[in-house]
Amino acid sequence: MKAIKKAVFPVAGMGTRFLPATKANPKEMLPVVDKPLIQYAAEEAVAAGIDTLIFVTGRNKRSIEDHFDTAYELERELEAKQKVKMLSVLRSILPSHVNCVFIRQSQALGLGHAVLCARPVVNDEPFAVILADDLINFTSKPCLSQMVDLFNFQHCSILGTEPVPMEDVSSYGVVDGIEVKPGLMEVSGIVEKPSVDKAPSNVAVVGRYILTPRIFDLLEKTQRGAGNEIQLTDAIAELLREQRVLSYNFEGRRFDCGSKLGYLKAQVEFALDHEEVGAEFKAFLKELHAQHTEKVVPLKSAN
Ligand code: UTP
Repeated sequence: MKAIKKAVFPVAGMGTRFLPATKANPKEMLPVVDKPLIQYAAEEAVAAGIDTLIFVTGRNKRSIEDHFDTAYELERELEAKQKVKMLSVLRSILPSHVNCVFIRQSQALGLGHAVLCARPVVNDEPFAVILADDLINFTSKPCLSQMVDLFNFQHCSILGTEPVPMEDVSSYGVVDGIEVKPGLMEVSGIVEKPSVDKAPSNVAVVGRYILTPRIFDLLEKTQRGAGNEIQLTDAIAELLREQRVLSYNFEGRRFDCGSKLGYLKAQVEFALDHEEVGAEFKAFLKELHAQHTEKVVPLKSAN
């Protein structure tokens, strides 16, 4: 099978959980410290050996295109002011061998439909899908690199998964299957947003997929499902009737940046790790913590 060289970034969702911030901007442009979510996702793809980034965009597409385009005027101004460091930050957003392709999803009909929109560019190759609002921090290897390594060995579709608390399963696609190694499962079933009593497990699919191109034929036939949207999960349920699909519990910490709380947690962790502001931010958090604990007045004892 061909190597994974293309990644699809569906960025055409409505982002309703983050209104009003997402009124005029896609949520994937929300920054975590100093980089928008979509840049973290693009960097993860490039680190995994991908050279073609396919963005499926919606009504607010311009800022994403602009972000990955050359900003001549800004560069000229930084040059004139000799802001060398900032200039190099700007020029290193993507390496020169990486190409960006933008495709319009005219209506937000669901994640499955967004992935199908990328078909003319992906063609008949296996490919990755990254949901940039699932930001994944790592210690040794980025999530998609872990999955590409596994793909190079297994040559089949792979779903990035994570065990979640049982009470949260109805926010995810949830898989069923047989564990072949700790954290690695042969998937036998998948269901989108099940109720707690109907969930086959607590292993949830998060925003990383490696898929074979057969998924496109199946997406063509997929009807609207949960939330009245064309669900990628439903097409994967069909795919695994024909082909082997694995689920892989990646190593790393995921932040659901499509939710306010997940986004705030990501800000804190990434700020603490940040080489420029990390130390000062940590000191600030300590101070803040001390102030807040001081405010808790102990209850007087009865005697
Ligand atoms: P979500 O389920 O998070 O939906 O989409 P959303 O619309 O972005 O956000 P909320 O729930 O209204 O706050 C998962 C991913 O699929 C993309 C989104 O951009 C996000 O990356 N998506 C979803 C599309 O590209 N097109 C769609 O029609 C739907």
